Amino acid sequence: MDLGIRGRAALVTGGSRGIGRMTALRLLEEGARVAICARGKEGLDEARGDLARRTGGEVLAVQADTSREADITRLVQAAAGRFGGVDILVNNAGTMSSGRFGALADAALQAQLDTKLFGFLRLIRQVVPHMRAKGWGRIVNIIGGAGKEPDPYMFGSGMTNSALLNLTKSLSTELGEEGILVNAVCPGWVDTALWRKNAEGLAAELGAKTEEEARRLAARKNALNRFGRPEELADAIAFLCSGRASYITGVSLNLDGGRLKALW
Ligand SMILES: NC(=O)c1ccc[n+]([C@@H]2O[C@H](COP(=O)([O-])OP(=O)(O)OC[C@H]3O[C@@H](n4cnc5c(N)ncnc54)[C@H](OP(=O)(O)O)[C@@H]3O)[C@@H](O)[C@H]2O)c1
Repeated sequence: MDLGIRGRAALVTGGSRGIGRMTALRLLEEGARVAICARGKEGLDEARGDLARRTGGEVLAVQADTSREADITRLVQAAAGRFGGVDILVNNAGTMSSGRFGALADAALQAQLDTKLFGFLRLIRQVVPHMRAKGWGRIVNIIGGAGKEPDPYMFGSGMTNSALLNLTKSLSTELGEEGILVNAVCPGWVDTALWRKNAEGLAAELGAKTEEEARRLAARKNALNRFGRPEELADAIAFLCSGRASYITGVSLNLDGGRLKALW
């Protein structure tokens, strides 16, 4: 299926590894021109080279920290300057705030809010004028299941993610008539560097002796009884970014192998 985004300008934050990198790859394979960002220069340069080599597409890499407003301004200006606008935004850069109430320091929650809530919001604020000018836009926020089903171990992420779900739904209503579609995805456990960083803490939480045992116990909660792969996430995200997803807005799609059991 042709996704109908050939020539579109996309910005994928946190595109140097994991879900963001695979999403950038999918969008490039569909003929979009793609800007990626990350804080780490080495990983970013390696990703840019690899993505360009594998697809022959146009990739712009901008070193930026999305918890900083000035970096966001520089990033959006660079992408719009190179591509003549921004048609697609994948708000992905971020981490998890794991650990229970008793372990959560204000500074850790603030860092999570700065990156995911304010970072996502500011990026949207800066790309919307470009989308508005063309009467076409796609925004996909990469959130997380703890926003829908509070989990005491994911206390910080849960609070941030619930706010992002509200933001997504509200902005889908605000921007819909202008042809700008705003959706979200909620990953469960996905096999990335982020999972590996959290493996030790999750093992302690689950009473597991090894990372492998923690993985088995965590995966068992999913209907599919396994973790997700970044490319599986990327396929669904790229679809939501596409011309084919023209009547979908305000949804939050669970990409969790059946982890959440509620009806919505
Ligand atoms: N993996 C999971 O199980 C899971 C579950 C639920 C939700 N999610 C969400 O999915 C998104 C992607 O996660 P992932 O698993 O792909 O993580 P990952 O493998 O750690 O990749 C994260 C990417 O974001 C970049 N990044 C992080 N903080 C940034 C910042 N402040 N400014 C700019 N770039 C930043 C990283 O590069 P630098 O470090 O070099 O900046 C990297 O490119 C995150 O928002 C995460 O919360 C993941």
